[in-house]
Amino acid sequence: MGIFNHIFKKKEPLVPFSLSFIGNDLHSHLIPGIDDGAKTMEDSLFLASGLADLGYKKVITTPHIMSDYYKNNPTIIKKGLLELNSTLEKNDIDLKVEAAAEYYVDFDFIEKIGKEELLTFGDNYILIECSFIEPPRDFKEGLFRLQINGYKPILAHPERYQYWHKRTNFYDELKDRDILFQVNILSLIGIYSPQVTSVAEYLIKNKMVEVLGTDLHNEYQMGQLKNLKLKQGVINNIMELNLLNSTL
Ligand SMILES: [Fe+2]
Repeated sequence: MGIFNHIFKKKEPLVPFSLSFIGNDLHSHLIPGIDDGAKTMEDSLFLASGLADLGYKKVITTPHIMSDYYKNNPTIIKKGLLELNSTLEKNDIDLKVEAAAEYYVDFDFIEKIGKEELLTFGDNYILIECSFIEPPRDFKEGLFRLQINGYKPILAHPERYQYWHKRTNFYDELKDRDILFQVNILSLIGIYSPQVTSVAEYLIKNKMVEVLGTDLHNEYQMGQLKNLKLKQGVINNIMELNLLNSTL
């Protein structure tokens, strides 16, 4: 019976999953026209009202800051946030929006640490990301510099870096260095790749995740969030996490 079950393993049924318990989202691209997220204020309104409908109370939106592609800075982001909030108010969207950033870790970023203003949230948390193509050089140096300058790094979507998929001990090493992990909710439904889904499930099951984020960029992703269905086992593992979301 056991072997039979193993060979003809049934696909686990999917169960609708409401995100309303999460409270606050800490990774999204809602400010229009400054990165690969919302293109227009109309897009921003659509995405923000969708998050409110999903039950989110507050969103800390995180535009990309990359030295090559998205040359954003605190001034650009704060100006965009003011415009976004005034539009949300005019349109009666009941969602509190604040802003930080998603910092791409490269040489230029590491150079800025301790010298320039970095956008943080909560207790000096900073959201960082890496290249999807190759392991970042000087990554550990960057983390160390952040930490000795009082920042608490949260690694955005650790499940999406395929060069670490077969090196799960690297994830352990990061946890030993007190790096927090933010998994994308949509990684769990396979919109990136089956491997990304497996690693996201692995990290959640092993309680290595402190933040769940939407990483919301566009209408398609909003549709996926509104129709979210997950395996019951994954839902159970999520409910056992000590998420920081609602505290930020
Ligand atoms: Fe992002």
